[in-house]
Amino acid sequence: MGHGIAQVCAMAGYSVVLTDADPEALQRAMEHVQANLDKGVDRGKVEPTVRDLALSNLSTGDLAAAAKDADCVIEAVPERLELKRQLFGQVATLAPEGCILATNTSSLSIDAIADGLAAPDRVVGTHFFNPVHIMPLLEVVQGEATRTDVIDTIRALGDRIGKEVIVVKDRPGFATSRLGVCLGMEAIRMVEEGVASPEDIDKAMVLGYRHPVGPLRLTDLVGLDVRMHIGTYLARELGNRAFEPPELMRTMVAEGRLGKKTGGGFYDW
Ligand SMILES: NC(=O)c1ccc[n+]([C@@H]2O[C@H](COP(=O)([O-])OP(=O)(O)OC[C@H]3O[C@@H](n4cnc5c(N)ncnc54)[C@H](O)[C@@H]3O)[C@@H](O)[C@H]2O)c1
Repeated sequence: MGHGIAQVCAMAGYSVVLTDADPEALQRAMEHVQANLDKGVDRGKVEPTVRDLALSNLSTGDLAAAAKDADCVIEAVPERLELKRQLFGQVATLAPEGCILATNTSSLSIDAIADGLAAPDRVVGTHFFNPVHIMPLLEVVQGEATRTDVIDTIRALGDRIGKEVIVVKDRPGFATSRLGVCLGMEAIRMVEEGVASPEDIDKAMVLGYRHPVGPLRLTDLVGLDVRMHIGTYLARELGNRAFEPPELMRTMVAEGRLGKKTGGGFYDW
């Protein structure tokens, strides 16, 4: 996610310093960006001048170099609360006082990430979607302490990088995961009950509701294990059984039928 976010920001003219704890990952990230931009130019989707601009705006460095003089730091380290808190603690000592601390968390509480920082009012959620250069949505998450001017600045950033911005409160699952996972779990319960085949349940949503992809195919793409984890978390946090992973899902996960990544889930891949 990090390299995708860096790419769209650099393409929009922002000066971006990309960093990673793992030098090889950093190297790979730059190669991905280069390859992605080249592919965009080959397909006529990216102007050669925009590719050149993006590459000239993008550099790499260590965390101190990335944070120094930054107006905004967007973190995309793995989804672990302690790791994100620790990272923002470090960034807070390295970045200018006014620097916005944005997190690409897809499920963690913004308030929990900001907790303990001297200035939690500059922490905000910037939830991007994969692949970042294609998916049009930016889900901005406003924590209890997040200042309104921070939201305004992130809105402007979203506009400039060509994303549609929505702003949601810091509640479990935000807007996207809460609705998406709820639909996915219900679709699995319908397969369990024999209401219809996975193909027909997906067609119901694709053709009847104009969803680009059906809830079962999407579950296969995301990974049944990943979705089961989120469902369990949302069921607990929201106290709502609708998010509880159905028995069929638990069985499929136990059998290693995790979706696309294992070659099979609700579909054969
Ligand atoms: N993959 C998705 O589709 C997706 C979508 C939306 C949001 N997210 C969120 O984005 C974040 C990253 O997800 P990902 O799939 O890109 O993960 P990833 O594991 O592919 O990448 C994480 C990177 O962080 C680096 N890293 C680890 N610790 C670090 C540290 N202390 N300092 C600097 N770099 C460090 C790792 O070396 C790795 O390159 C997570 O919070 C995830 O929930 C992911």
